[in-house]
Order: sequence, then structure tokens, then C-alpha cells
Amino acid sequence: MRAKKSFANLWSKQRITKKAHAGRGLETIWEVSTNMNKERNSNGMSRRRFLQTSAEFAASAMFLSLGSAQSFAAPNPSTQENLIPLVTLNNGLQMPRLGLGTMTLNGDVGIRCVADAISLGYRLIDTAMIYGNEVSVGSGIKQSGIKREKLFITSKLWKADMGYEQAKKGFQTSINKLGTDYLDLYLIHRPSGDVKGSWKAMEELYHQGRIKAIGVSNFEPAQLEDLIASNDVKPAINQIETHAFFQEGKSLEYLKQHGVQMEAWAPFAEGRHGLFTSATLATIGKKYNKTIAQVSLRWHYQRGIIAIPRSSQKAHIAENLNIFDFSLEDSDMASISTLDLNTTQFPEWS
Ligand SMILES: NC(=O)c1ccc[n+]([C@@H]2O[C@H](COP(=O)([O-])OP(=O)(O)OC[C@H]3O[C@@H](n4cnc5c(N)ncnc54)[C@H](OP(=O)(O)O)[C@@H]3O)[C@@H](O)[C@H]2O)c1
Repeated sequence: MRAKKSFANLWSKQRITKKAHAGRGLETIWEVSTNMNKERNSNGMSRRRFLQTSAEFAASAMFLSLGSAQSFAAPNPSTQENLIPLVTLNNGLQMPRLGLGTMTLNGDVGIRCVADAISLGYRLIDTAMIYGNEVSVGSGIKQSGIKREKLFITSKLWKADMGYEQAKKGFQTSINKLGTDYLDLYLIHRPSGDVKGSWKAMEELYHQGRIKAIGVSNFEPAQLEDLIASNDVKPAINQIETHAFFQEGKSLEYLKQHGVQMEAWAPFAEGRHGLFTSATLATIGKKYNKTIAQVSLRWHYQRGIIAIPRSSQKAHIAENLNIFDFSLEDSDMASISTLDLNTTQFPEWS
């Protein structure tokens, strides 16, 4: 009981005592963009084919924004196959670097958004037990008609299900609701309760092949270090709040050093603090004929961070995917780094 409490205390204390760190984002930028000419994506797609696919996609997205939802001509799924570059996680598993977030996308909206996203080329879908939409996500996947093995499905173990026995039950409930017999990624949603017991259960499910990769969410470096030091399987992912106003440069450095892939939740800060009206992001977007949303997502991508933007609108879901045909220059990345407030935009969750 005592250990549990001190773990939770550590979590909230670290969140509260973060200090401002003006202009420190620049040194964390990964040089993905400058390698674009040399790049093949992880599926071996050449740059030329990749750009061609992106152009086909862009044309579809443009058509979508001009017409009604009914007039959208769904791209041929075979040409969308490798639209999104992959990253190789620390256990060798390949994961798309952009996906659809589904928090609040419930019921029929959830079904539609997931099916739309998959038809547009998304393969990574992020859900969680606590979102209450795993059944909808599963229905959307079914409706898309795509083979299960083509998708990368993430779900998360909620606080109420922490502990060895409960975690196994929580996992089983999630996959039953999703209508699948395995998860690509299963995350501990928050570092509270019996983290070690839960991780042991997740390690067993991982060794049985029922989860392809296991990871965490909302873990501070010290909490992650503790988990890494006392267990066999290293977390593949840490999914944390990251956006222009909370850039988490130090966490990014730390995770890179430890071979743990960083994933951004709320990549748009849910539009808080005026993200969608930011003059800095708008000016950069103008240069490339891209929207603020696209500039934001390209910025995550060039930092080497997986992003899972959520949208309930097909036009936005399409727009958010159209980020692979341009590169932000170093000066753009430097401008965006000045937006960092180094503080959460979601104090109610801390
Ligand atoms: N692990 C965790 O603790 C945790 C916490 C929070 C979230 N998450 C995950 O991260 C995902 C993303 O975070 P989030 O849902 O909090 O917020 P977000 O993706 O930062 O922002 C979502 C908001 O952005 C708007 N939007 C999306 N695309 C847009 C575009 N192209 N132009 C203008 N507006 C656009 C959406 O409105 P429209 O619907 O109108 O497009 C929505 O209001 C979640 O859905 C969830 O899967 C995880």
C-alpha cells in the first residue's frame, strides 16, 4: 500500500515541479527530413513510388474537400498500402508512424471514423478500455473489410484493472470487445496502482504472442527507469502528451537513449491554447501550402515521434494523412520550438 502511494506521489510531484526550459527543443530534432532523398520507407518503398502514392492521396483529399462525403472516391486500398512510413520498435515489430486517435469517437461516429480512416490508408488505430469505444472500433475495422494482419491496433489497461489477475482480465475484455484475438500494442494507461503486477501479466501475454508489443503511457523517466530495471521486457512505447506547447524535449532525449519509442497523445493539444490559430504555425503552413494541422503533424514526424491525431470529420482525417510530401526546414523547426510552454495543457488529468 505504501509503495503504491509513493509511486502515485512521485508521478504528481514530477508533473508539478517541471521547470521552464525556453528554447531547448531544437537539440532534440531528428534529421528525418534531410534524409528524405535517400529514404526508403520501412516497407522498402522507393521515394519516387512513395511520392506518387502521396500525390494520388493528395488528389483524393483535394477532391474530398471540394465535394460532399458521398462524392469522395475512395482510393484503391492497394495503392494506399504503404502510404504511412513505419518505425521499428525495440523488439523488431514495425509500427506506423501516424495513426487515428479515437478518444470520444463512440457509437456510430466511432464506427464511421475508423472505417473512413482505414479506407484512406490509416493502419494504426489507438483506443483504450476507458474510452468505452472498443466495440465501435472493432465494428469500424470489420466494416473496412481489411485483413486484421494489415492493421496495428493499440489498446490500454485502465487504472481500475491494474494488478496481475485484473490485467489479464482487462486484456481479454478489450480483445473481446474489439473482436480480435491479439493486440499489436497494449499500454499501461497511467502509472498508478500495481504497475509491476500488471507488467508481469503483460509480459506473459507478450511471450504467448497475444500482444505483439507492450508499453506504457504517461510515465515519467524515473518511473520508466524503475520498470526497465526490474523486468525482462523493456517497454516498446511511452505515449505521452506532446504538442507544440508541451514539447517534452527532455523526455524525447531520454526515450531515444533507452530505445523506447515516443508517441504523442493530443498532438494538436486538442486545439487548446489556440493551436489551430497559431500565427507561427500558419505562417509556416503558408510556405508549403499546408494547414496548421499538417504542419503540426509533420513537426512530430520530423522529431521521430508517432502521432495519433483524432478527428470526427472525414475531411480532417484525410488532411491529417497528407503530410508526407513536404519537409519542414530547420528554421521552421526552430520557430516551432519557441512555442514550447513546457507545461501540460491538461492540468485536470495531472
Ligand atoms: N494515453 C493517454 O493518456 C491519452 C490521453 C489523451 C488522448 N490519447 C489518445 O491520443 C489521441 C489524440 O489526442 P486527443 O484526441 O486528445 O486530441 P488531438 O488529436 O490533439 O485533437 C483532437 C481535436 O483536433 C481537431 N482536429 C483534428 N484534425 C483537425 C484538422 N485537420 N483541422 C482542424 N481541427 C482538427 C478535432 O476536431 P474534429 O473532430 O472536428 O476534426 C478534435 O477536436 C486520442 O484520441 C487518444 O487516442 C491518449
